[in-house]
Amino acid sequence: MEMLMFHIDKSHHQPIYMQLYEKIRDSIINGQLQEGEKLPSKRHLGEYLAISQTTIENAYAQLVDEGYIYSKQRSGFFVSDIDTLPLISQQREMTESTMTLADTPPSSRYMFQLGAIDKAHFPFEQFRKYAKEAFDTLQHTLVETGDQQGDFTLRQQISHYLFHSRGVQSTPEQVIIASSTEQLLSIITDLLPSQHTFMLEDPIYPQVPQLLTRKHIPFHFIPVQDDGIHVAHIEQCDDNIVYITPSHQFPTGVTMSLQNRVKLLKWASAHPDRYIIEDDYDSEFRYEGKPIPALQSLDKAERVIYVSTFSKSIAPSIRIAYAVLPAHLAKQYHQTRNIEGGTVPRHTQYMVSRFMESNQFERHLNRMRKIYRQKRDVLLNHLSQHPTLCRIDGAQTGMHFIVTIHNGLSEQDCLQRFKAHAIDIQPLSHYRFHANDTTPRFVLGFGGIDDNELANHVEQLIHALQ
Ligand SMILES: Cc1ncc(COP(=O)(O)O)c(C=O)c1O
Repeated sequence: MEMLMFHIDKSHHQPIYMQLYEKIRDSIINGQLQEGEKLPSKRHLGEYLAISQTTIENAYAQLVDEGYIYSKQRSGFFVSDIDTLPLISQQREMTESTMTLADTPPSSRYMFQLGAIDKAHFPFEQFRKYAKEAFDTLQHTLVETGDQQGDFTLRQQISHYLFHSRGVQSTPEQVIIASSTEQLLSIITDLLPSQHTFMLEDPIYPQVPQLLTRKHIPFHFIPVQDDGIHVAHIEQCDDNIVYITPSHQFPTGVTMSLQNRVKLLKWASAHPDRYIIEDDYDSEFRYEGKPIPALQSLDKAERVIYVSTFSKSIAPSIRIAYAVLPAHLAKQYHQTRNIEGGTVPRHTQYMVSRFMESNQFERHLNRMRKIYRQKRDVLLNHLSQHPTLCRIDGAQTGMHFIVTIHNGLSEQDCLQRFKAHAIDIQPLSHYRFHANDTTPRFVLGFGGIDDNELANHVEQLIHALQ
């Protein structure tokens, strides 16, 4: 086995053998040392930790006495099966690392999850091929540290794709790649003018205010209306950065009107310290009406920072999000040292890049758009038969929509019924920071529900509310 790297404090009042005993015991309890694992010999461990063999002998003897380890003649000391020790099972804390799959609480049978995608149609075959290709062709390059900003070929593909699908103007030099939208926002906030305060949509993707709080960046909320964030409100504030989801507001699903887009761009272009962060997280899946070009495509004053992700369009586990910085911020990014980034594995970048370059990505999107539209239609067909029970909003785009319950039940009543019927669905209030609306509304995510489960799911939902 490997050596045990424990910090032993020789100046501590506690005897050294007791310190060692406690460290080994804790490692056994929390699972770092596992049943059957061999402990280092007394001589080796003594040399390694620069302590006497007698000290180690005493520590091991204590562990043997208490049943944590046992000795085998001429073989050494081994970790016992601690589940047989009644003492331990009482003491053992249910930390994440000690929890097994079997211990995790049973999940609901009817899940309307937001982050989930359709698994049945994921292009495993193509990704398997690109994965093999990555290791076969890249070889040495694959083990070198890549570009902090993301591999050039992937940035090139993203830039090309965004222009054709969303009208976003960029060069690969303006594109930055990170592991999540949150990480991109963290990088972006490091590039913003030193005095910056944020205006956020309410309701919102909670990771955004959480990140700003962690970074001690001030922010406040602006209500979302039927045509997106309340722009007149923004115009009256002194804050200089606004974060929005204009194509499909998260989570309400409303689309920002062209009139409001133009007003917001005017507001931003009136001052060089103002920026709009446009999060375009799921606009690939638009089912009705004309596709709406990204706000960035209308920006002539370098005020829009465009952010999007492959979490919906490929898979949330791929961990690639991307941003397009205005040219002057990209220049600043290139001049900034030690900026965070370089977190997406190179083989993953290669696979996605090949997926895009071979036009498979486009085909995949077309296929998935149809699949998600069908899923959405099944749900809408069922729900629309109960007009006195509920109303649907924000279903033109993406993999979720809002269900408003108007049969007299409160949000709490609905939640209790959902729980009793093994339904997992988030209330809209979960994403609201200023609770000024008590109408029970729920965010119904459908991307991850199997086609043959859709009708069951939605009927269970209806049944729970009746
Ligand atoms: C508004 C919004 N932005 C971004 C994301 C995705 O973020 P990430 O790229 O970190 O997976 C989501 C996921 O649901 C989202 O709702």
